[in-house]
Amino acid sequence: MRVIQLGTTAYADSLFRAGELIAAARQGVAFTGAGISAESGIQTYRGQGGLWNTVDPKFASIDYFLSDPAGYWTNAKERGGRLLAARPNLAHEALAELERLGHLAGVVTQNVDGLHELAGTRRLVELHGNGRTVVCLDCGASEPRAGVQARLDREMPPRCRACGGGRLKPAVVFFGEQMPVRAVREAFDLAAACDLMLVVGSSLVVYPAAEVPLAAVEAGAPLIIVNAEPTPYDELAAVVIAGKAGEVLPELKRIAAAA
Ligand code: OAD
Repeated sequence: MRVIQLGTTAYADSLFRAGELIAAARQGVAFTGAGISAESGIQTYRGQGGLWNTVDPKFASIDYFLSDPAGYWTNAKERGGRLLAARPNLAHEALAELERLGHLAGVVTQNVDGLHELAGTRRLVELHGNGRTVVCLDCGASEPRAGVQARLDREMPPRCRACGGGRLKPAVVFFGEQMPVRAVREAFDLAAACDLMLVVGSSLVVYPAAEVPLAAVEAGAPLIIVNAEPTPYDELAAVVIAGKAGEVLPELKRIAAAA
């Protein structure tokens, strides 16, 4: 395992080694977390500047949501606006390109920002749902969050138009809720069959999602970690690159494409 800092000769060696591993992969899987979207203006949960440093994680629990939907939506209003305005960055685009080039079979993400889809990733597994959509807990209808966001100023909490008053909740997995069964199965199937696991921008401390890269390692795939801060899996990795996803991923794509 090598931990390499940006700007050193060792950093260049490390980029090259990771790029070669990606070039050799035919069914690699990228596993992403909030860090990949930091350069798109979306706050991470942990680490420097993370949301949970200043906001109580209870606001993302289903118990809190059900007890006080207006409190939830008031708290989530600003973050929801930022999510809807965010655009994919160079890291999302590099992963989509690596899929097109035949090195990645797909992306498994913990993110709910929808940016991989906007970047053009074709096979995408969203383990924690998608915050660009809102669902009615009472009638099951769904609608784009943009419309709900636009009426928050005059309707708090927002109500379902389809059934005329049902409780609306972002289509994301809250603490205390089950993960989507089909997505979890697909993520572990991809991990078991992959020939490379590329982790980008995740603290790797939230389970069961963090078991996905572990399953790939147990199946024999080499692990690359690109993250701004150390993770508990660094010791398992063939290469660890400490850096910003938006700077590192385009370099890895360039090296892999040229190999
Ligand atoms: P975290 O916020 O836990 O971790 C993000 C990681 O990205 C941190 O280790 C940062 O150091 C790193 N980072 C920050 N900026 C970066 C950049 N520009 N490039 C590369 N790395 C960067 O996010 P996740 O691991 O995704 O769950 O968190 C997992 C889950 O915890 C989330 O899906 C969410 C949260 O509670 C649910 O909502 C269910």
